[in-house]
Amino acid sequence: MLKIATYPQPILRRTAKEVKVFDQELKDLATAMAKIMYEDDGIGLAAPQVSVSQRMLVIGAKDGKSFKAYINPEITFFSKEKCVNEEGCLSLPKIYGLVQRSKKVHVKYQDLDGKWQKEKIKDFNAIILQHEIDHLNGILFIDRVSKITQGQDLLDALKAKL
Ligand code: CO
Repeated sequence: MLKIATYPQPILRRTAKEVKVFDQELKDLATAMAKIMYEDDGIGLAAPQVSVSQRMLVIGAKDGKSFKAYINPEITFFSKEKCVNEEGCLSLPKIYGLVQRSKKVHVKYQDLDGKWQKEKIKDFNAIILQHEIDHLNGILFIDRVSKITQGQDLLDALKAKL
């Protein structure tokens, strides 16, 4: 049973390793990640957030059920045009803040069968993808935040534990 790793657990700061084996276990992990993501009302989840230090993430869909898995994702283009949005994170419950990110990105990644794919993504999904890929590199939204909008006291208390 997977459990969400919350800040300041060290796993969240590690650089995740490339996925090399595309097997049933990987598919089961993606399915389990999507399940816990939806249970916790998330819209995206990266493997380090369930204490698996591998380069994979899932992003939810509008139906609240299906998901898309991105394995070994890499952003190959960041638009100069930026947008600022309020972000939260399942690993930082009750903390929200404003983060500036590119409005459009191009990503290459492997699907659950190991096949390379390319995609152009914009707006909300581009923001989620940038946030989740940050997790694979040990980066959290609080590292990029311009202003904490909710939970500054909680964040201060967590940081004091470091
Ligand atoms: Co997050």
